[in-house]
Amino acid sequence: MLLAVASIANAQRQEISISDGWRFSHDQQTWEQVSVPHDWAIAGPFDKKWDLQVVAIEQNGEKEATEKSGRSGALPWIGDGYYKRTFTIPSDFAGHAELVFDGAMAQPVVTVNGQWAGCWAYGYNAFRIDVTKLVKPGDNLLEVSLKNLEESSRWYPGAGIYRPVTLVLTDKQYIDDWSLFVRTITIGKGKAELEVDMQVVDSEENSYSFSLRDAKGVDVASTKPASPNSDGSIHARLTVNNPKLWSPETPYLYKLVAKLTKEQRIIDEKTVNVGIRTIRVSREHGFQLNGQTRKLKGVCLHHDLGPLGAAVNKAALIRQIKILKEMGCDAIRTSHNMPSQMQMDVCDSLGMMVMAESFDMWVYPKCKNGYARFFHQWAEKDITNLVKANRNHPSIVMWSIGNEIPEQNSEDGRLISIRLQGLCHSLDPTRPVTQGMDRAEQALKNGMAQVMDVPGFNYRVHKYQQNIEQLPQGFLLGSETASTVSSRGIYKFPVEPTDNSQYASWAPGYDPTAIKKADGQCSSYDVEYCSWSNLPDDDWVWQDDKDWVIGEFVWTGFDYLGEPTPYDEYWPSRSSYFGICDLAGLPKDRYWLYRSKWQKDNHTIHLLPHWTWGKERRGKVTPVYCYTDYPTAELFVNGKSQGKITKNPTERLDRYRLRWNEVKYEPGEIKVVVYDAEGKASGENTIRTAGKPTQLHLDVWTQAGGQLKADGEDLAFVTVSLTDAKGTLIPDADDQLTFEVTGAGTFEAVCNGDATSLESFKRPTMKLFNGQLVVIVRSKKTPGTITLKVNDARRKLSKSVTISSYR
Ligand code: GAL
Repeated sequence: MLLAVASIANAQRQEISISDGWRFSHDQQTWEQVSVPHDWAIAGPFDKKWDLQVVAIEQNGEKEATEKSGRSGALPWIGDGYYKRTFTIPSDFAGHAELVFDGAMAQPVVTVNGQWAGCWAYGYNAFRIDVTKLVKPGDNLLEVSLKNLEESSRWYPGAGIYRPVTLVLTDKQYIDDWSLFVRTITIGKGKAELEVDMQVVDSEENSYSFSLRDAKGVDVASTKPASPNSDGSIHARLTVNNPKLWSPETPYLYKLVAKLTKEQRIIDEKTVNVGIRTIRVSREHGFQLNGQTRKLKGVCLHHDLGPLGAAVNKAALIRQIKILKEMGCDAIRTSHNMPSQMQMDVCDSLGMMVMAESFDMWVYPKCKNGYARFFHQWAEKDITNLVKANRNHPSIVMWSIGNEIPEQNSEDGRLISIRLQGLCHSLDPTRPVTQGMDRAEQALKNGMAQVMDVPGFNYRVHKYQQNIEQLPQGFLLGSETASTVSSRGIYKFPVEPTDNSQYASWAPGYDPTAIKKADGQCSSYDVEYCSWSNLPDDDWVWQDDKDWVIGEFVWTGFDYLGEPTPYDEYWPSRSSYFGICDLAGLPKDRYWLYRSKWQKDNHTIHLLPHWTWGKERRGKVTPVYCYTDYPTAELFVNGKSQGKITKNPTERLDRYRLRWNEVKYEPGEIKVVVYDAEGKASGENTIRTAGKPTQLHLDVWTQAGGQLKADGEDLAFVTVSLTDAKGTLIPDADDQLTFEVTGAGTFEAVCNGDATSLESFKRPTMKLFNGQLVVIVRSKKTPGTITLKVNDARRKLSKSVTISSYR
C-alpha cells in the first residue's frame, strides 16, 4: 500500500503516521497484512511450551531452580519477525526525513530501500532514524526486522512493532524534534516563568519565535529570541500572567508553538503541550506539586493492555487511567521501562502523575538474555532517549533509573546510580530521580540509597524506620508496595492472612478436605500476599503515621500477562494476581479498599463477599467485610444485627476495614448502614442471594459517551454480566458465551480476568469468569451503527447492544 504524502514545497513540517498497510512475516516466505501498532503474539495460542523455564527466581528469594510456566504469558512472543511496507516521498522533496519509532519489540533493525538505516537494542525505547540520504522521490521500501530471545523478560514483553511509527518530513533547516524543551521555573504571585530551549539544524539567517497558547487557542505569552548560538541552540524565557496550573485535579494544558521563519515564510513549526507546574522534594515538605505537599497515591503498571497485548491503543489507555482516577489514584509508575508517548499524552490530558522508569536490570542479569546484554553499550543512549522524548510531559514528575537492581549489593551500584542520575539531571534539571530498591541494608551500606534524589524502597515496610535513620534526604518513597494477590470473585475459607496463598494440591499446608479448591486462584478477602510483601493496610500505617513517607506505588493497578505468582509452578496459569483490577480491567474487591482510602470526593460503601453460596456453606462462618471511608457501620443479615463496629487503629486489619468475622451464612440479604464521625447514619448498601440466571447485562464504555470515532482505532469495552431477574450477579457463572459483531465495527478481543484460562483473547467465544467478562469492539473507518450480540447457548439467552460511530 502506498502512503500519500502531500507536497512539501512550502517546507511545512509533516508528521505522518505509518500505521496501515504493513506486511508481517515470521520467515519472510508467507506474509500477512497488518496494521501497526501490532503485537504478533497476543492471539496465542496459550501453551506452556512457549516460555517454559527451569530457573530459580532470585528476586523471590528462591535458591533452587524449578520448572516455571506462564512466567512471560505462555504466548508465542519468542522468535523473529519481519515487517515491510512502502511509503511515498514527494517528487520535489529536498529536505530532511526521519523515522520515529516509539518502540519495537525487540532489537529492531531498520532498512530503507535495502540499505541499513539504523537499529536499537531495547524494545521499550523510542528512537529516531535520519533517512534523508536513503529516501528518493516516489516509492520507498521500509523494512524492520525484530528478534526476541527466550528468557529475556520477567513478564510478557509483547512482540512486534507495538507502538506507532511516524515519518517526519521537514525543510533542510529544521527544529530538532526532541530538542524543544519547555519547563516551568517558578510560579509566583499571579505569574509563572517558563524557560524554553531548542536546537535548529542547518539554520541560516532566520528568525525564531515562541508563543504560548491557552486551551482556547489565545496567545498568552510570546517572545522572539535573538539569533541562536553558534551551535544552533536557542534559549528563551516566557512570563505567563495568571497561569492555570497543571495538577491531577486540574490538568490544564497550554500549547507552545515554536517557529522558524525566513522573510515571513514559515520554514518549520513545532507544537508541544505544556503544563505549568513545579515539582519539589525536600526534608521539610516531602513531595510537592505546585508548592503543595501531597503523598503519592500511585500504582505500578506493566505496559500490556491485557487482551490487546502490548499493542498500544489510546482508548484502552484512557479507560485504564479513568478507572484509576475514579479510585482516587493520582500517579502511575511505568514499571519497569519507558512508557509510550500515547500513554504520556493521556496522562497529561486526564491528570495522572507519572514515575517514568527505564530498566529492570543493569550489568548483572535477572534473566539469561535480559537487558544486561546491552547495558554497557546502550544505557546512556537509552536514558537520553527516555528523557529527551518525554521531558515536555507535565504528567512526569520523576525519572526512575532502575528497579531492584542487583548491583545494590556492590560499590558499582552507587557509582552507576550517580552516573545515570547525573545524566538525567543534565538532560532535565527540573525533575528528581529515583529507583526502587529491595535490599535496603545493602543499598544503604554501599551508599546507593543516599545518593538518590528520591530514595525508593520496594516492600519491607518494617525496615522503613531503620532506613530513614540513615538517609540524609530525610524522606523516602514506597516505590513498590503491597503485592497483595487476589482473583476477582473468588473467596476462600477459612479467611486467614497469609504470605503463602496457593490453592493447589502441591502447596505446603494444602488440605484436600477443606473447601480450598486446587484451582490456581487467590482469595478476594484481600488477606493474601507474598513472602516479600504485605497488605495495603500495612503500607497505609506508615504513610499515615510518618510525614517522611512521601507515598506509594502499589504493585499493580491492573493484572498483567506473565508472572503468575504465587502460581509460577502451577499450570495453567499465565497472568498475574497482583492487580487491583483484573486483566479485563474489572475491579476486584481491593479496588474499593483503595478507593475508600484514596478517593476524597465520593464516599465508598462496598460489601464482600457475594451472598450466593450453596448448601454446603449454610450455617458456616462466612466473614463479611465493608470497605468504606466512614468510621463506623452496623451489619444486618436478613434484618438481624451482627453488631455496630468502629475502625480500630491499633489492629492490623481493623484500622482501614470493617470486619464481621463470625457471621454465619444464610441465604437472603446482607445490609450495611454506615455512620459518620458524629454518629449520624450516612448511607447503606445491600447485597442479595441471586435467584435463577435469566438475564445478560451489557454495559458499554467508550471514551466519548457511548459512541465511537470511525477511525479504525477507537474501541468500545462492553462488560457482560449474567444476573437474575432483579439484576443480582450470578457470582459463580462460567457459561460459554459467543459474540457476533456486525455493521460499522469488528470484534477485537475478549477477556474474563481468569488467570488460568487458556481461551484465546482473539476468538469470539469465552466462558464467563465469576459471572462476568469484557468484550472489546473496534470501529471501522466508515461511520455507522455497530451491533454486538452476545449469546449464552446453555441458558438460551441472548442480548444485543448497538453503538454508533461518527467521523
Ligand atoms: C517486585 C518486582 C516486580 C514484581 C513484584 C511481584 O520485587 O519489582 O517486578 O516482580 O516483585 O511481587
